[in-house]
Amino acid sequence: MTDRDFASLEELNDAMRREFPSVAGVGGVVGGEGSILVPIAFVGEQPGDAEDREGRPFVGPAGRLLDHALAEAEIDRGEAYMTNAVKQFHFTERGKRRIHRKPRTGEIVHQRWWLWREIDLVRPRVIVALGATAGLALAGRSVAVMRERGPMAFGNRRGVLTVHPSYLLRLPDATAKQASFDAFVSDLRQARQIAQAAS
Ligand code: URA
Repeated sequence: MTDRDFASLEELNDAMRREFPSVAGVGGVVGGEGSILVPIAFVGEQPGDAEDREGRPFVGPAGRLLDHALAEAEIDRGEAYMTNAVKQFHFTERGKRRIHRKPRTGEIVHQRWWLWREIDLVRPRVIVALGATAGLALAGRSVAVMRERGPMAFGNRRGVLTVHPSYLLRLPDATAKQASFDAFVSDLRQARQIAQAAS
């Protein structure tokens, strides 16, 4: 960790690549995507296998579901910033497959400093925490997503806590899946409204 300030996202990402090398079971740094001063920033857990291969956040199955929900909530992904609480894919190798491993609390807390440098550069009007890992990184404490979902302050910034899109992908029952998707879209609409009201 360093006490440096960064002049740009490029500088920040370069410093993160030096700080967090790819090692066994941990992929490369996948930086955030989008411009500074966008209305909404989305923070996920960590890049997945597809994101690690492409070097871009939210381009795999969870990203496609998020894109669908963004369209329903009338949020233009081109005007949003996408990033993750933890910038590297953590996995266990099983044959040729790389199986997602949840980042440990220590890893989340360690990368938190970097996430806040990124947020300070992007300066979004509202931050959406997608799931418990992003909630922990942004709120600085464990969050109970189902009980606390909705508007929430993250430091001195406006935020919304909601579920991670992977949670929706895992729901086995089609009716429950649709109801949960609708609730997710409704959280995203709230975020859009907060961003609009803050403009
Ligand atoms: N899940 C995340 O939390 N982030 C991504 O970028 C992709 C999947």
